[in-house]
Amino acid sequence: MADLEALRSRALIELSAAGDAAALDAWRLAYLGRQGAVTRVLRGLGELPAEERRAVGAMANAMRADLEGALAQRQTEAENAAIAQMEAGGIDVTLPGREGLVGRLHPITQTLREMLAALGAMGFQVAEGPEVEWEYYNFDALRIPWYHPSRDSQDTFWLEQKPESEKRVLLRTQTSPNQIRFMEKNQPPVRVAVPGRVYRFEATDATHEWMFHQVELLAVDEGISFKHMKGTLTQFARALFGQDREVRFRCHYFPFVEPGAEVDIQCGLCGGAGCRSCGGEGWLEIAGAGMVHREILENVGYDADRYTGFAAGFGVERIAMLRHGIDDIRNFYANDLRFLRQF
Ligand code: PHE
Repeated sequence: MADLEALRSRALIELSAAGDAAALDAWRLAYLGRQGAVTRVLRGLGELPAEERRAVGAMANAMRADLEGALAQRQTEAENAAIAQMEAGGIDVTLPGREGLVGRLHPITQTLREMLAALGAMGFQVAEGPEVEWEYYNFDALRIPWYHPSRDSQDTFWLEQKPESEKRVLLRTQTSPNQIRFMEKNQPPVRVAVPGRVYRFEATDATHEWMFHQVELLAVDEGISFKHMKGTLTQFARALFGQDREVRFRCHYFPFVEPGAEVDIQCGLCGGAGCRSCGGEGWLEIAGAGMVHREILENVGYDADRYTGFAAGFGVERIAMLRHGIDDIRNFYANDLRFLRQF
């Protein structure tokens, strides 16, 4: 019992010298841990003669409780001292923690990636082309001559050039120039998707921006017909909007396709009956499309008697707006984090 008394005072002296969490933990292991001095005494009780066992056991148990209490008190003191030190250094440890800022993809990037993934699954490869484009690729090669109405200077951002330059450059107004660019460099069969920004000299409002995105589709092969176009575009639209959505093709003129069409999807809100969101139409336009004009195939050196193809151009902002119920295209590029963080 004298040994126990000595052990206790040694433990308490060492405890008062342990100044921080690490030292306190080392002390706990030395005395109260599984191999600790006090634990060993308790384990050794069985070897004592029965008449001593009770008294020594009671003393050792009381000692363990004392030492545990003393340890807890020292731990609190050490924590308080550490906090006081931080506060003295100007750190308010009672403030809630700051949440880390996690970045995310822009809603247009998200929609674009989903579109390209769906097209990839249907066998389309992805290619890109320049945003600063020759007049030739953006217009002439697509059968849009200088006198065509869509060439009106109001529609196009022309780049300033030296007076002596003969070929004019512009910010592309559509991704269709990549039909030409891709066919010039590749032989059929062609299945390609070209995403990118396009620019139009436009007064902005809820449905018009001067910069937006398109995804161009082009498929050229032997025996491709309008039915392949309808099937492909319908399947693609349903991959984006749901398998039960109806898709409609309306006759429309584009100089570089014949026949041409505009592609509508059934309004998701009214299911085609007509409501405010679809302007009473029941349908919403998502793309222009058509069979590649024979002259264009010939101009890139394809055998137009052997090959036919279809092309389509999808508006990415339009699709993102329909999918998320966004009613103003200007939200995408206003850089308001309250808007962007919703996606
Ligand atoms: N480039 C056309 C536009 O921007 C869309 C289109 C692409 C139409 C391909 C037909 C074929 O309006």
